[in-house]
Amino acid sequence: MTFDRRVKIAPSILSADFADFGREIEAIEAQGADWVHVDVMDGHFVPNLTFGPQMCRAIRPHVRTVMDVHLMIAPVDPYIDAFAEAGADVISAHLEAGPHIHRTLQAIRGAGCKAGLAINPGTGLDGVEYLLDMIDLVCVMTVNPGFGGQKFIESQVAKVKALRAMIGDRPIHIEIDGGMTPETAPLMAAAGADVFVAGSAVFRGGSVAKPEVYGENIRAIRAAAEAAL
Ligand code: DX5
Ligand code: ZN
Repeated sequence: MTFDRRVKIAPSILSADFADFGREIEAIEAQGADWVHVDVMDGHFVPNLTFGPQMCRAIRPHVRTVMDVHLMIAPVDPYIDAFAEAGADVISAHLEAGPHIHRTLQAIRGAGCKAGLAINPGTGLDGVEYLLDMIDLVCVMTVNPGFGGQKFIESQVAKVKALRAMIGDRPIHIEIDGGMTPETAPLMAAAGADVFVAGSAVFRGGSVAKPEVYGENIRAIRAAAEAAL
């Protein structure tokens, strides 16, 4: 993975057909996805359950781009090695998931992965400042984590602007997760984001039998974001 700030679209397989992840991933990558976003939920940190490291391992051979694993779980530390061994390229953990996020981020890099720090809509940037030299990505949640298809929380635009200034020249991606559409992505591109996670807005109307719809959806988000730069 080389670092750049170009617009990247990361479809979330939370909105894919759970019985057909392999072909869904191949379809979105063939249609222009830059990264594949994998939402891991534990029914404890967030009020929903998805899947764990075994599923990540199973889908890994189908991912040719970047496997971006978003852990919405607490505790995190006991599972880092399992997700790294399953083939994650990026592992993001939540600032809110436990008292020792610094140790968690160290462990993610120690396991050979890029380290992501995810922050909920209600969390400010104070806790991010002293972690900047140990992270490769900040995932700014623009919905409360747990479900796809929720409405974008507009107050996060100002947070991303401030975060972009705080990051300066450091090679740290700003990823936006939740409610991304061709209408909301430009606000975040202008504020300084470069990775755009989108679940419902990518998978809506398409299928492995109609993958060209995925392509249209991905291109619409990308074009809107790039137009704002
Ligand atoms: C929410 C997840 C998101 C979600 C995005 O907890 O982290 O990645 O799938 O879905 P949309 O794009 O539908 O808001
Ligand atoms: Zn996510």
